[in-house]
Amino acid sequence: MVTLYNVISEDGYIAERGGTENFIPDSVWSDFLNLCQQNDVVIMGRKTYEAIQQYPATLIKEFENLKLKKVVVTRNSNYKIKASYIITNGLKVALVLGNNVLISSGPDLNTGAVAEEIIDKVILNIIPSKVLDGIKQFNVEPELKMIFEKKFEDGRIWREYQVVK
Ligand SMILES: NC(=O)c1ccc[n+]([C@@H]2O[C@H](COP(=O)([O-])OP(=O)(O)OC[C@H]3O[C@@H](n4cnc5c(N)ncnc54)[C@H](OP(=O)(O)O)[C@@H]3O)[C@@H](O)[C@H]2O)c1
Repeated sequence: MVTLYNVISEDGYIAERGGTENFIPDSVWSDFLNLCQQNDVVIMGRKTYEAIQQYPATLIKEFENLKLKKVVVTRNSNYKIKASYIITNGLKVALVLGNNVLISSGPDLNTGAVAEEIIDKVILNIIPSKVLDGIKQFNVEPELKMIFEKKFEDGRIWREYQVVK
């Protein structure tokens, strides 16, 4: 099972125009960590890896201490990453590293994963804030069918979708 997870604003952006994620409260980091603990592998693009390295040190440590395999995808064979990550040059290479795989990345890797038809499920953690102009989850929207929805008192909505293949 391959699941794509993103935190998204109510108007459909995963980051602000410059790549910051100021609309995302630190409190939803635990949702990502919980999903990581339900998977064997988490995959991210090189730019998401670099964005995570800008997070507060305590959040990075909580993530990097998790047991699952943390994979960074890049086409740059000279790219250097921290020892707690695995580097691969493509998505399919990373998929063989486990049975349950989580992808959390930006539109570049997300759209590539849809094009390669490897995503089974999409999870959106929708924050009740507007970004107005920013980075979308995909460059080309896949066809999705909603299979689960939960609303929280803080206004967040958790939605799960099956990818129509
Ligand atoms: N809100 C959320 O849930 C969330 C989650 C993750 C990220 N984000 C945001 O998303 C933004 C980054 O998104 P992005 O789309 O610009 O970048 P990205 O998907 O994180 O990374 C793109 C990079 O990954 C590598 N890559 C992508 N597809 C590949 C493939 N098929 N094979 C080999 N390498 C591949 C390339 O690295 P090289 O250039 O090194 O070759 C590419 O430049 C950041 O602003 C981040 O904060 C938000």
